[in-house]
Amino acid sequence: MKILIVGGGGREHAIAVALKKSGAALFAAPGNGGIAEIATCLDIQSTGIDGVKQAVKEHNIDLVVVAPDEPLALGMVDELEAIGVRAFGANKSAARIESSKVWSKNFMQRHSIPTAWFKVFCNAGSAVNFIKHHGKYPIVVKADGLAAGKGVIIAETEVEAIAAINKIMVDRVFVESGSHIVIEEHLVGKEVSLLAFCDGKTIKPMVSAQDYKRVFDGNTGGNTGGMGSFAPSPLYPKVADECMKRIALPTVAAMNAEGCPFKGVLYFGLILTDDGVKVIEYNARFGDPETQVVIPLLKTDLLTIMNAVIDGRLDEIEIEWHEEVAVCVVETSEGYPGKYEIGAEIHDFAAVPDGVTVYHAGTKLEDGKLVTSGGRVLGVTAVAPDIESARAKVYGAIDGGIGFANCHYRTDIGQ
Ligand code: AMP
Ligand code: GLY
Repeated sequence: MKILIVGGGGREHAIAVALKKSGAALFAAPGNGGIAEIATCLDIQSTGIDGVKQAVKEHNIDLVVVAPDEPLALGMVDELEAIGVRAFGANKSAARIESSKVWSKNFMQRHSIPTAWFKVFCNAGSAVNFIKHHGKYPIVVKADGLAAGKGVIIAETEVEAIAAINKIMVDRVFVESGSHIVIEEHLVGKEVSLLAFCDGKTIKPMVSAQDYKRVFDGNTGGNTGGMGSFAPSPLYPKVADECMKRIALPTVAAMNAEGCPFKGVLYFGLILTDDGVKVIEYNARFGDPETQVVIPLLKTDLLTIMNAVIDGRLDEIEIEWHEEVAVCVVETSEGYPGKYEIGAEIHDFAAVPDGVTVYHAGTKLEDGKLVTSGGRVLGVTAVAPDIESARAKVYGAIDGGIGFANCHYRTDIGQ
């Protein structure tokens, strides 16, 4: 069995580690310094559909796992299926649930799935006009399309809201993603991530998780791609029934009814408001860094689940989870999410403590040495019977030397 994993972050490393256990020979496009230890990394970018198709033929790949948002939105899964290649991931029309916020908000409205009140605009003038007649702050301004996690601006004042509109629609900092915007109600509550396997008919939730988006302790500083995570979330069990009944099951049924059945991993970004659980956003894929804490708790073979998803027989398998807790602390290059330097040598950490796994994100091998190559560099994950011991383990491992010069990380993950 030969599997090609598309992507090259911590999420893909966690998927690779799990699929390696299934005994598959792994390839990655493009992978990273950690994935290279267990897979053959190919010099193909994750959005390179032609390159991936070529690699499938050249290496006789049996299954392609498409992990990141961009290739899913571009229709990589559709193109692979069109040439008879098995692919795990949402097809282009199902991926709209993430790739267009206008589409996903309208979808939720059509099907009465609880979400923030919103309005859609296709020109800056009418959006600004709306803001001038709107008195309640904060308010949330979102670019329609994918924006590497930077397309959401929480405006505290009218000035900030207008600046956000101009940045997205006039300056076009997110290019085509800014042709439309969503302006929506600011919701207040704790956030929980729920990832679920979905085969178009059946949905099976994974263990819940929580991630940390702000760069500094105490949830301060700028938004990042994710500074850490833990699973399961202690908040989720209280709302699990409500989520299944009012959000997860209706979403699957509605996608089916609209002729775009969802196959792959469906991610629900949930917020627990005083007015019930609401959807902040959907993702059409595994989350990052949630995957780094969810997948280590998976007892059932991941490849078996992926095959059941592709073949539409998720109802026939039982998915089991370890009753433990996982904590992931992300180590970044100093300065991230702003300017940062790359090329720092990563300390040798061949001997990691028992129960600790280091998932690589921005790393690469250079002349046989492992060096930093991105903002988010390593995700140090520990699994333990409870959150306190998982935290002790993960920070113990970091204090023990897992890192690099000028490495930054939060000290309050899972606190
Ligand atoms: P998104 O890219 O849609 O996940 O948004 C990024 C983050 O912005 C979310 O995880 C929330 O923390 C925040 N956010 C997005 N929409 C809202 C909203 N309507 N109310 C409050 N916070 C929001
Ligand atoms: N952790 C949020 C995401 O993957 O988009």
